[in-house]
Amino acid sequence: MSDHQIGLTINGRRHVASVEGRMTLADMLRDDAGYTGVHLGCEHGVCGACTVIVDGRAVRSCLMLAVQADETEIKTVEGLAEPDGTLHPVQQTMREEHALQCGFCTPGVVMTLAALTSGNAQPSEESLLKALSGHICRCTGYQGIRRAAKRLAAAGSGDAA
Ligand code: FES
Ligand code: FES
Repeated sequence: MSDHQIGLTINGRRHVASVEGRMTLADMLRDDAGYTGVHLGCEHGVCGACTVIVDGRAVRSCLMLAVQADETEIKTVEGLAEPDGTLHPVQQTMREEHALQCGFCTPGVVMTLAALTSGNAQPSEESLLKALSGHICRCTGYQGIRRAAKRLAAAGSGDAA
């Protein structure tokens, strides 16, 4: 099977790869580029664990082919914190609310919330909670995750977080 040459930006770095047409973006990010913070759960678009940001939008990387990501800008959980280690507001809020247990679902949840709260976006609490419904967590009971989402919505609207 012939491979395809692709070039894209991942967490601010140029990455070129030779991929089979059937390779998913998730597999390319994990196996070719080494970003293993992209977790694979269901591999058919249900659990949300593989969510990354592609050109500003949260995308399930198990449902996108690597060739479709040619010349896109991708952010994974590894690229979210500042170079000095300062956590992204979503990471910091989830940490403070203890919004994780085993952490398997966490990168996907973080990337969805980061995409929806980036820039000047002021998402409503309702929209963030609705977005979380696309993520399956097996162990926190969701309470901490929901508290973090509510705080992020409140912070965006100017209310005390
Ligand atoms: S692994 Fe992609 S949605 Fe579950
Ligand atoms: S923290 Fe374990 S699956 Fe969500």
